[in-house]
Amino acid sequence: MTNPIIVGVTGASGSILASKTVDALLELNIPTVLVASNPARMVWQLEMSETFGESLERWADNSDFTHYAIGDLKAPIASGTFPARGMVIVPGSMATVSAIVNGISDNLIRRAADVCLKEKRPFVIVPRESPLNRIHLSNLAALDGFGTSIVTADPPYYLPVKTLEDSAAFTAQRVLLALNIIKELPEEFRYGEN
Ligand SMILES: Cc1cc2nc3c(=O)[nH]c(=O)nc-3n(C[C@H](O)[C@H](O)[C@H](O)COP(=O)(O)O)c2cc1C
Repeated sequence: MTNPIIVGVTGASGSILASKTVDALLELNIPTVLVASNPARMVWQLEMSETFGESLERWADNSDFTHYAIGDLKAPIASGTFPARGMVIVPGSMATVSAIVNGISDNLIRRAADVCLKEKRPFVIVPRESPLNRIHLSNLAALDGFGTSIVTADPPYYLPVKTLEDSAAFTAQRVLLALNIIKELPEEFRYGEN
């Protein structure tokens, strides 16, 4: 059995990106540990056709799925002794990007990210903000300097992808690639193969 991936969901727009990432991980039977911030739950309510609680209920049937509350700083993933394979924050708010760059581990997502970086484990963020100001850019550049993979959620304009759902599914596959879970994108998401 492979080690778990931690998925942190923060309060940026793009809840569907988180939903598709969890779906893609569970599809591959990857143990998945989910944590969402309170702003993330609020955005989920606005953007998704089901509440965050309903999504949790749907995933809870899967034995590979675990969820911790954002304030649960004693959860196993708050420690480097938890054998995480890596972590993704999707979507990533600029507030959380800034907190991580500055070592502020005041909730479970930020602490798990801090642990991931100190343990030199694969760490991926899907930032969501536009336009980006110099603070955002400098914080993202700092994260890159710490070895983070920054995967943007741009639609694949070069593919016959028509819906937001498909575009989010594409981004989820890019996340899996950045986490080294897959070695290449699925055929439907490869340029020139469809
Ligand atoms: C509907 C909505 C959309 C938001 N979209 C973004 C966004 O795309 N990017 C961002 O950085 N913050 C966005 N925010 C602001 C964050 O939710 C806010 O900064 C929050 O403090 C982030 O906290 P967190 O990182 O702990 O989730 C949005 C807020 C709301 C209510």
